[in-house]
Amino acid sequence: MTDLSLLTLAIEAMEKSYSPYSGCKVGAALLTKSGKIYTGTNIENAAFSPTVCAERVAFFKAISEGETELSAIAVVGGKGGKVDGIFAPCGVCRQVMMEFCHPETFEIILAVSTEHYEIITLKELL
Ligand code: THU
Repeated sequence: MTDLSLLTLAIEAMEKSYSPYSGCKVGAALLTKSGKIYTGTNIENAAFSPTVCAERVAFFKAISEGETELSAIAVVGGKGGKVDGIFAPCGVCRQVMMEFCHPETFEIILAVSTEHYEIITLKELL
């Protein structure tokens, strides 16, 4: 699994976004150390607090399936599904990542555009 193919899966996951309130479609693809991939998208709600970010959907899918060895997550997002800049994980998602991942080795792949991306560690993100 290359970084680019993980990013492609994150872009595909954006299509499932339920985001009628913000209009922001976000997709995530989480890679486990065993090579499995769990995707996620943001799911909003009329009441703000039940809204869940794409990253946490991917994380909770993996954790609930017994996957705790995680190596990287690709995150992509944009208004109306148009990717034109990085969509950095929010504080709550960073906290969830810290619970399950090593900050110096877990990688976060952020798309700068549909053609370009950058890779940072969880430690660098924090
Ligand atoms: N969102 C994510 O899915 N991931 C983030 O890291 C930041 C924000 C979602 C939540 C909400 O549906 C929309 O983007 C606007 O904040």
